[in-house]
Amino acid sequence: MTPDVLTVQGLNVSVRDTQLVSDVDLTVGPGERVGLIGESGSGKSLTALSILGLLPDDVVPSGSVRLTGIDHDLIGADERALSRIRGRDLAMVFQEPMTALNPTMRIGDQIAESMLIHHTQPTRTAARAAAADLLDRVQLPADLLRAYPHQLSGGQRQRIVLAIALANDPALLICDEPTTALDVTVQALVLDLIVQGVLARSSALLFITHDLAVVATVCERVLVMYGGRVVESGPVHEVFTNPRHRYTQGLLAASNLEAAAPASGRTNLQAGTASRPRLTTIPGTVPAAGHFPSGCVFRNRCTHATDLCATTPAWSGTPTTGYACHHPAGASHA
Ligand SMILES: Nc1ncnc2c1ncn2[C@@H]1O[C@H](COP(=O)(O)OP(=O)(O)OP(=O)(O)O)[C@@H](O)[C@H]1O
Ligand SMILES: [Mg+2]
Repeated sequence: MTPDVLTVQGLNVSVRDTQLVSDVDLTVGPGERVGLIGESGSGKSLTALSILGLLPDDVVPSGSVRLTGIDHDLIGADERALSRIRGRDLAMVFQEPMTALNPTMRIGDQIAESMLIHHTQPTRTAARAAAADLLDRVQLPADLLRAYPHQLSGGQRQRIVLAIALANDPALLICDEPTTALDVTVQALVLDLIVQGVLARSSALLFITHDLAVVATVCERVLVMYGGRVVESGPVHEVFTNPRHRYTQGLLAASNLEAAAPASGRTNLQAGTASRPRLTTIPGTVPAAGHFPSGCVFRNRCTHATDLCATTPAWSGTPTTGYACHHPAGASHA
């Protein structure tokens, strides 16, 4: 069996004495596209930042993060080692492109620099030629090579960030809400460029979003987070058509996703249409970080919770495909 590109085991993240992320297991296989979803504050970005070694100083991770081809754990690795890996083996696209770009440097130089720093192009001339090719791949005209970031639109800037992220053929691309800040008209294009970019390079993708319809379009597998924990994970079509965890069920009911399994048996997932049912909300409120209940983190909002849920955390399945619920919805995944 081909080893996974990314293997996260038992990831915990704490700030002072508050645990923000608990016991996250996550794998991304070669060329696989995995989604990470959950409400605001569920721990998605902290999980991504732990993998990238970009947590603020007072936020402390523990557990294990292994990346293919790297012979040491990324948790606890020093900044020099991490900066060699980031941008080469592990690339990222965040919500706000301006934070990733240097406002004083021309676009062409920034793309070229990312390859020269990691020695993936032998000369400045070769790096400039590769930069022009990358610009073409993100469907931007070559004259933007001489532009500065402030001269570009938000969508163009995010495409430059994507070009830089893909420049060194990373083993894994991590995207955290990459299209949330963009005009809806360019969101679909940027998503398509991300998918085409990772496919062309056989890179794996970890994709974080609030938008379940986007996960249905982009990803093959999904993890659902709540209260800093993974509450369900599995193939997108299984989790979205037959959610087992009561939180996943609520999240789907509250989303713009219309999941339909036609008689042919082939699962068809698409964004909601005019005929979709009314959206519902998950009752109750999300506790503050560090104040989630013992046992099942969702039990104070769950109408199915029993005494067992208060005392014993649940997990049915394998470490990477299953659900954390004693009273699951739906039917067994085949
Ligand atoms: N530096 C920090 N210090 C203290 N608490 C933090 C810090 N960073 C994040 N948190 C808390 O940890 C929890 C998880 O945060 P995280 O940013 O991972 O959520 P998220 O799932 O990415 O949410 P969103 O969808 O809003 O981006 C939140 O309750 C957040 O307030
Ligand atoms: Mg976030």
